[in-house]
Order: sequence, then C-alpha cells, then structure tokens
Amino acid sequence: MKSFMIQGARILATGSAVPNSRLNNNQVSQIVQTSDEWIFSRTGIKERRLLTGDNQSIVDLAALASTKALNSTLLQASDIDLIILATSSPNDLFGSASQVQAKIGAKNAVAFDLTAACSGFVLGLVTAYQFLCSGSYRNILVIGADVLSKWTDWSDRSTCILFGDGAGAVIIQSCSKKENSILGFQLNTDGSYANHLSISYQQEVNAHPILNLYQGSFKYISMNGKEVYKFAVSQVPLSILKCLKSLNISVNDIDWLLLHQANERILNVVAEKLSISSTKIIANLNKYGNTSAASIPLALDEAIKENKISDNDIIVISGFGAGLTWGTVVLKWSSILLK
Ligand code: ACO
Repeated sequence: MKSFMIQGARILATGSAVPNSRLNNNQVSQIVQTSDEWIFSRTGIKERRLLTGDNQSIVDLAALASTKALNSTLLQASDIDLIILATSSPNDLFGSASQVQAKIGAKNAVAFDLTAACSGFVLGLVTAYQFLCSGSYRNILVIGADVLSKWTDWSDRSTCILFGDGAGAVIIQSCSKKENSILGFQLNTDGSYANHLSISYQQEVNAHPILNLYQGSFKYISMNGKEVYKFAVSQVPLSILKCLKSLNISVNDIDWLLLHQANERILNVVAEKLSISSTKIIANLNKYGNTSAASIPLALDEAIKENKISDNDIIVISGFGAGLTWGTVVLKWSSILLK
C-alpha cells in the first residue's frame, strides 16, 4: 500500500476474446419459434457466440482477453497489482477472478469478482479508478466476462435470442493528474425493479428434516423485456447528461457513444434523445448479441483495433442492466503507452 495521493488513470491496453462457436438467427429459429427477420428488426442481432463443449469455462475467455491486453503493453503479468473480474456467470460462486490470476500468472495481483450484470464493467472501471487515484495500486486489470448462454432458458424465445458469450479486458495504470483519461463517472442503482431482470435463487420445497434449512439452486434468466427497454431509454440519457454536466462537457464534444450492447434500438433511441449522430455510435451487437459485462470492453477493443478512436477523443460509456443498475464513465482517449 503506497502513500495516499490523488492521481489520474489512463487505459494502457485492451483485449477481447469470444468463443469460436457461432449461432445465427436461422439456427435459433430451429430451436424456438422465431425468425431472423423478427430478431434482427427488434434487436439488431444477427448471430452470437456460445461457449460450447465441456473443457472451457469463463476463466479461459477472461484469461485470453487479459493476455491479449497485456501483450500489447510493455508490462509483465507480475506487474498487475489488482484484477477485477466483472461477471454474473462465474464458474465458482466464491469467485472466478483468482482462477484468472493463476491462469495468466499475475502472481502479485489481488483478485476479486464484481457482480453488477451488464453494468459490471462500468462499475469495475470506476472501482479500479479509485484504487489508482488513491495511490494504492499502479496497474489494474479490469475484465468484463459473461457466459449467459449457461443461464439461458433455450426454450424461452423472449430471452434466448438476446444473449451471447464473451470477454473484454482493459489494463489501467495510474498517472499524473494532467494525463488522466477517466474524466468522470455517474452511477445508479434502483433495487425496487430487481424483479424485471434476474437469475434468481429458488429454494427447494422441502426443508432439511433436522435443520429446517431450505437449500436450492439458481434458475434461468427471467426478464420483462418491455420494462427493461423503457428503463434503459429513459435512464441512460439522464445519467449521461448528469455526468457531462458535472464535467462541464457538452453533448457536441462527444466523439463516441459506447453503450452496453443490449439492443440496437436502445442504442439508437439513446443517441436520438441526446441529439448525437448515429455515426458516433459504437456497435457490434449484430455479431455477438448481448454479452452482458463483456459487451463494452469487447466493443471498445474492436473499435481500437479498427483505428476508429483517435487520441483526445471523448468517449461516453454507459452500462445498464439487472439490479437495476446503470451508470456512465467519460473517457478522454490517449494511446501513448500502447506498443
Ligand atoms: N420471435 C418471435 N416473436 C417473439 C419473440 C421471438 N423471439 N419474442 C417475443 N415474441 C412475440 C411476443 O410473444 C409478442 O407476441 P404477441 O404480440 O402476440 O403477444 C410479440 O412478439 C411482441 O413481444 P414484445 O416482448 O412486446 O417485443 P418487444 O418489441 O418488446 O421486443 C425485446 C422484445 C427485444 C426483448 C425488447 O423488449 C428488448 O430488447 N428489451 C430490452 C432487453 C434488454 O436490453 N435486456 C438486457 C439488459 S442487460 C442485462 O443486465 C442482462
């Protein structure tokens, strides 16, 4: 633990990983009663990736995304001080972050999971930022990874069309306040609507005969799509506006709008409400569907690899989802330390 001093933070590198197995809309229509036309027109999704087979887990995806990020810096895995794995689908309820730590050889890193559904990456980034600004840690790996295909009811056409598996990672490093690229954030939770989107725990009917203890297991994803849609298109623009106002940045200054990739209609409505040109929307959900905590770092990594984002670009990132949770981070992009 180093001395307490206010610093800044900058993103050094990004990486991502998706499973090889693809499932397109026509293939989904062989499993449930739906069609490519319905799915694409309502969501913008064409296909998604699924972690199939029995020899891979979320840890493999998260580790691959992390290694790709690390390999584009001059850092070694042993230079990482902290790993935050944002996920709602760990392979161990006690957490998967420590398995990622072991797999990538980040032997000096503290590692923990953070559960906040599709807002997980935004919350992970903001959490990392606190540790960096306080001077506690220098290099932090933030991963968003989810394999919601494992928690999807593949007979429910209202949800199984939406989700896909993936992982995205960023390495953030502390820096001087002048070089700071995380300009600000705005976070929210409203637990009174938690039932709109959940993977809830179901108790067994009978208690343990001696202990009067009810055990159980987690169910599949259940979602009230209409309510989640209404929540996203009303609350996300407000969060962005609040965040921009606190930073004295105008909507016109935004170069890129990077929202959680839930539904193309949500992306378009949020951009319209903010009068942001659709050319500034970063979107890749046609290829991957909704990858939950992975969707933002996966889309960010792709946009960087496609050279879309330039130095000093202002990127507005917003996550939203189960909880309900939602929030915004505003970045000023700088690629100075990339190899
Ligand atoms: N194929 C064909 N028909 C379908 C399908 C399907 N896959 N799913 C539903 N329908 C039918 C319904 O049964 C309904 O039929 P009816 O009118 O005869 O009753 C009709 O299509 C309309 O259904 P709606 O649910 O009203 O469809 P809607 O236009 O709202 O679109 C959708 C549904 C795409 C799920 C939309 O509500 C949505 O995207 N909501 C947001 C979901 C979201 O973003 N969730 C993730 C949050 S992130 C996280 O934390 C995990």
